[in-house]
Amino acid sequence: MKRVLAVLLACFTIMSCNNQKQVPVAADGSWREITPEEVSLNPVKMVGDDWLELSAGKEGDLNLMTIGWGTFGVLWNKPVYIVYVSPARYTYEFMERNEYFTVTHFPEAMQEKLGYLGSVSGRDEDKVAGAGLTVEFTELGNPIYAEADLAIECRKIYSVPFDPALLPEEQRDWYASRGLPIHHMYIGEILHIWEK
Ligand SMILES: Cc1cc2nc3c(=O)[nH]c(=O)nc-3n(C[C@H](O)[C@H](O)[C@H](O)COP(=O)(O)O)c2cc1C
Repeated sequence: MKRVLAVLLACFTIMSCNNQKQVPVAADGSWREITPEEVSLNPVKMVGDDWLELSAGKEGDLNLMTIGWGTFGVLWNKPVYIVYVSPARYTYEFMERNEYFTVTHFPEAMQEKLGYLGSVSGRDEDKVAGAGLTVEFTELGNPIYAEADLAIECRKIYSVPFDPALLPEEQRDWYASRGLPIHHMYIGEILHIWEK
């Protein structure tokens, strides 16, 4: 009995030192929780070149869209992920209604599907089905995808539209030439990061 307790104690000590815990996001335990410092993907390439999916909502009422703008960093001593969403997007409505959002990164072979998710609207079609994605839900009930290789779960802690009067002239022209409403910034405190 003493030996069993000693082994259990040793395992617990090793797990605590690792600062990693297995989080049962998927029933098969395919995800491993990591810290923000352990993310090996380059934060600029991850969103600027590879693109990410931004998702908000709960089971039966969610939407996702491709993003090419995003900021991974630290604010108010918290790890944060910041996203920029045009009010023209259906996803904007989900971002406004929900307390949480997720950003997910996918293997390179999925980029064509990410292109699709960034060119059609959830107002018009079921994009999850269209892209052939398998939705999984975190313990907080937020959507991530079995096909992704990195998932970041955030709580919205601040959101604001950019002030047109304060935009650099180049960006004001950019919006005007596209007739696009000005993006809202959503700052998300990172609660969990999982990788495969
Ligand atoms: C590569 C790529 C990057 C994009 N990045 C953003 C972004 O950062 N913010 C944004 O508001 N829209 C972005 N979009 C546009 C939306 O993904 C697109 O309008 C999408 O169809 C919106 O879907 P929804 O109406 O279902 O929300 C991007 C599109 C692509 C293809």
